[in-house]
Amino acid sequence: MIIAIDGPAGSGKTTVAKLLSKTLGFLYLDTGAMYRTLTLKALWESCNLDDVKALVDLAKNLSLKFSKENVYLDGEDVTFQIRTPMVDKNISKVVSYPEVRNVMVELQRLIIKGKNYVVEGRDITTVVCPDAEFKFYLDADLEVRAKRRTRDFIEKNIKVDLKEVLEDLKRRDEADKNREVGALKISKDAIYIDTTNLSIDEVIKTMLKYIKFKNIK
Ligand code: DC
Repeated sequence: MIIAIDGPAGSGKTTVAKLLSKTLGFLYLDTGAMYRTLTLKALWESCNLDDVKALVDLAKNLSLKFSKENVYLDGEDVTFQIRTPMVDKNISKVVSYPEVRNVMVELQRLIIKGKNYVVEGRDITTVVCPDAEFKFYLDADLEVRAKRRTRDFIEKNIKVDLKEVLEDLKRRDEADKNREVGALKISKDAIYIDTTNLSIDEVIKTMLKYIKFKNIK
């Protein structure tokens, strides 16, 4: 069974998806982390981000591993490195190419095939798993999302400015919603949850209500 979750950065997706997977005993896939790892690899290799062919090659040969809460690239723990402002600044370009996305979507489908997964990203309900048993779209006001992201950075001892984080989120929202392929949109059959004024617990409870209700029917 697949539970697909989409939504913009800072909507609470990652925290909620992780907790939901633990509660249900499902596996968890963070597709954003996959694109982040690819972006980090491109930066490591000083790859020209305008060179689609080079990026596709990197995607096809990406040595990526998830283990518990950690992400490994070429055997190195990059859990921290993939979430730095440097990756945030460069990722929109990498994820904009349909050719790159095709490779990543195939990989994502391969990982989750035949298993119980909670999968989160931007195009999970629409492109990666259009037949998912459960589809959710999490959203929140831009200011609240920026505050959450800033708090995340501060917890990791990364110095950032709220205004800068807000501007970066705005820019990424625009890019995510307007790209040619795999754009962030609310799937018609997705359950929309505005997390602006909700605690993590309340979001999980709402999602579980839907999941249990549909399974009982
Ligand atoms: O969820 P996140 O903020 O870690 O995602 C990082 C970037 O990757 C974000 O700018 C959008 C992109 N992304 C995507 O294009 N498709 C996905 N399925 C997941 C993330």
